[in-house]
Amino acid sequence: MTTAPTTDGVLVDRYGRVARDLRVSLTDKCNLRCTYCMPAEGLPWLSGPQLLTDDEIIRLIRVAVHRLGVTEVRFTGGEPLIRPGLVGIVSAVAALRPRPRISLTTNGIGLARLAPTLRAAGLDRVNVSLDTVDRTRFAELTRRDRLADVLAGLAGAAAAGLTPVKVNAVLMRGVNDDEAPALLRFALAHGYELRFIEQMPLDAQHGWDRGRMVTADQILADLRAEFDLSTDLAERGASPAETWLVDGGPARVGVIASVTRPFCGDCDRTRLTADGQVRACLFATEESDLRGALRAGADDAELARRWRTAMWGKRAGHGIDDPTFLQPARPMSAIGG
Ligand code: GTP
Ligand code: 5AD
Ligand code: SF4
Repeated sequence: MTTAPTTDGVLVDRYGRVARDLRVSLTDKCNLRCTYCMPAEGLPWLSGPQLLTDDEIIRLIRVAVHRLGVTEVRFTGGEPLIRPGLVGIVSAVAALRPRPRISLTTNGIGLARLAPTLRAAGLDRVNVSLDTVDRTRFAELTRRDRLADVLAGLAGAAAAGLTPVKVNAVLMRGVNDDEAPALLRFALAHGYELRFIEQMPLDAQHGWDRGRMVTADQILADLRAEFDLSTDLAERGASPAETWLVDGGPARVGVIASVTRPFCGDCDRTRLTADGQVRACLFATEESDLRGALRAGADDAELARRWRTAMWGKRAGHGIDDPTFLQPARPMSAIGG
């Protein structure tokens, strides 16, 4: 691989994309067991010494903000709310200048209690995963009877001002593929912005089947049976979600169609795993070890240089449609989506 240009200040790749959105996975563990994500018994989790400490995470985010032009920081998991140091990490990131925008993608469990504290620490907004509003179905799908906690988490986030509150739903054939209109009714009633996500080949069980995936076209057709969806003139930018106005607006609904309408050409994301590896893409099969460098005494300039080199190697697209496509070894739950 040729080395990255020495331009300090930005994470640029050889296709000219600039990464300003950093997604940080704070843990690979989760308190749910969604069937499409991980097996009932869980996965072999990262061990304590493998995980970055809170101070190491804060340092790497500081390098990204001060030296690499990152302006958005999103915390993910596993489930980020179960990381004990979360509030302190959010406060430290909110104290950086220029201050990045700070968001969190969570399953919502525990959010009712934590939302006001997180808001006070500097969190700007949250996205909550919710694939069904039916209690029995939720318990089957996540293998835990916790729908009420998630609904309370959503309400708590909205009340604390962590807005716009966005809801992420993955539809699966024979499981919840009849629920698109009901999910949208729920979101409209509460003022949440709903997005449907096409399922991607990132499950730990390697059970993804393109033929069974619920496509964006299918979802939109189901919604149109009940709602009027019209063009949203708001700038999409690098957002994975394509959005529509519902019944004339201002409410919107989105679809993240990574498989049938890929958006890799506009990608502005870089990822850091809970064990300190930079991933240039959700689907990257290579990672760059910042934890090793950091623990060996690398200074900030060296960490920034390694990060830039990692991003320079980012591929043009995820390649799901290539016959040579290989699912990354690290599952979605350990990348953070
Ligand atoms: P906002 O709309 O700004 O709140 O962010 P977001 O939609 O990027 O964040 P969120 O964490 O809610 O992610 C929603 C879905 O988009 C998840 O399933 C992610 O895996 C997916 N996603 C986020 N970034 C990428 C990406 O770079 N590539 C692909 N294919 N999917 C992504
Ligand atoms: N494909 C698409 N989205 C997924 N998520 C988890 N696994 C997958 C997958 N294989 C979603 C979660 C959550 C978001 C971070 O990613 O449901 O909403
Ligand atoms: Fe946990 Fe999210 Fe995976 Fe469900 S999809 S098990 S909430 S990491």
